[in-house]
Amino acid sequence: MTLDLFSDAPDADLPRGREAIGPGAFVLRGFALPFVDELLPALNEVEQRAAFRHLVTPGGLTMSVAMTNCGRLGWISDRRGYRYGELDPETGRPWPPMPAVFEHLAQAAAAEAGYEGFAPDACLVNRYEPGTRLSLHQDKDERDYGAPIVSVSLGMPATFLFGGLARGDKAARIPLGHGDVVVWGGPDRLRYHGVLPLADRPHALLGSRRINLTFRKAG
Ligand code: SIN
Ligand code: FE2
Repeated sequence: MTLDLFSDAPDADLPRGREAIGPGAFVLRGFALPFVDELLPALNEVEQRAAFRHLVTPGGLTMSVAMTNCGRLGWISDRRGYRYGELDPETGRPWPPMPAVFEHLAQAAAAEAGYEGFAPDACLVNRYEPGTRLSLHQDKDERDYGAPIVSVSLGMPATFLFGGLARGDKAARIPLGHGDVVVWGGPDRLRYHGVLPLADRPHALLGSRRINLTFRKAG
């Protein structure tokens, strides 16, 4: 399965494989590349039905990353807090369904990292532009931490920060490029993570944007 996926990749000479960044955390270099031709049109459809928006934190700050969701549950933040919900508060309608190619990619990446049977019900879509950052946080609004997080990078490169279980722990700086996937679960499920401010290094397909898809089992 893995060999087949990788041999389809357009630039098969890039470093590939499973880099461990923790006992239950891995970077899968280029893992999403064979899916990109299908991912981008599917992403467009999601975006048509649930537009990107800048959410406000409970503390009243506007996030620099623009977000939307697909899947049964969507993650939102407002003055009342962080939570998952079935409806897009902007439209009052359910979030767009998770495209089949999103789910297949998430499942395959989780399995590659040793998490069989991953069934995400939420996909948070983050859009970064030059200067956008995401400060260190834990993904902890999900009901059950038994499932991993699967995070797919598309477009401009970024530096991912992968910290420890305490906010003050030193964070590793991990360069992520178009098609890279990070999976963290098990003992690493609650590791702090974030993204450094992006430089403007336009990407051939996505221009001055980086898109991140994070898949979770939220409900
Ligand atoms: C996130 O933590 O939700 C996104 C991480 C990333 O953009 O790589
Ligand atoms: Fe996160």
